[in-house]
Amino acid sequence: MLRSVILAASRNRGIERLVSNAPVSRAVVRRFVGGGDASAAVGAASTLVEDGLLVTLDHLGEDTGDARQAGVIAEEYLGLLQALGRAGLAERIGPLTARAEVSVKLSAIGQALPGDGEKIALEHARRICAAARAVGATVTLDMEDHTTTDATLATLVELREDFPETAGVLQSYLRRTEGDCRALSGPGSRIRLCKGAYKEPASVAYQDDLDVDVSYVRCMNILLAGQGYPMFATHDPRLVDIARERAKFHGKGQHEYELQMLYGVRPSEQRRLAREGETVRVYVPYGSDWYGYLMRRLAERPSNLSFFLRSLVSKR
Ligand code: FDA
Repeated sequence: MLRSVILAASRNRGIERLVSNAPVSRAVVRRFVGGGDASAAVGAASTLVEDGLLVTLDHLGEDTGDARQAGVIAEEYLGLLQALGRAGLAERIGPLTARAEVSVKLSAIGQALPGDGEKIALEHARRICAAARAVGATVTLDMEDHTTTDATLATLVELREDFPETAGVLQSYLRRTEGDCRALSGPGSRIRLCKGAYKEPASVAYQDDLDVDVSYVRCMNILLAGQGYPMFATHDPRLVDIARERAKFHGKGQHEYELQMLYGVRPSEQRRLAREGETVRVYVPYGSDWYGYLMRRLAERPSNLSFFLRSLVSKR
């Protein structure tokens, strides 16, 4: 119920204006967003790297409505990658993995544009992959709602012909995902596995949390048994424990898979896992278009909402 209310608010322009202009929002944004621009995001990334974590940076924004804006966002990524290179953060730590990488939503760079949107997004994604390669970094294509899954996976396959280090994301709430895991568990395939963040119909997605978790574990086993580099994106302590146990079972060392979490979510746990030798990557969103992202995080976990409300009355 609360989740539906928050998700509805995430699409309401009036509430967006109200929340965006409230001075108190700044405290919440500071917790979950790595900064307003690339230079602030690189600063946040440096701090995480100093703490023994890896990072993936995401320029906030999705569903770009015009071709010019898609180009502006692609340029933003090119500037970000150069800044990561200059800051010494883009160093490779394995043949396919870098200390810092970027996460890109294809809808932000034109995928949803009418006509040749997919082609426009592919061309921008190619430029971003080339810029990443030039500084040593890598790219992950975020996954959006199920109507885009086929197009995004097709773009991933095309990009991997020239940039095999490019990663994709699969969502365990989708009924199709076990099959996608099998298809994408070959040599060198970097796949981030998450539960999935969009509201999807029962025809394509499990609706019960337990089914989503069981699917996550089945997918985890497929990826770990494969020859790729799985990246388990979850804050769920049970799934993190199972991932570590299953990795051992499948004979994967701590540098042959990653655990991933979001900036500001369970930060002490991120550092604890890294101290125990796990490869932990933090997803750092940045930019001014934070409203939709933040509302999805609040919808996922109502106690994040109480954190927000507490900050309304807090003096600091
Ligand atoms: P979930 O929200 O189901 O929580 C399970 C349990 O985890 C809770 O019961 C609690 O015990 C613990 N927990 C969760 N949050 C906590 C908190 N703040 N503090 C303490 N404990 C907490 N989605 C998508 O559709 N496409 C994508 O490309 C991505 N990319 C992505 C990258 C990364 C790095 C992450 C971590 C996540 C994504 N996601 C995503 C989002 C993902 O699909 C999912 O919506 C969220 O991660 C929430 O699901 P969890 O598995 O984290 O646990």
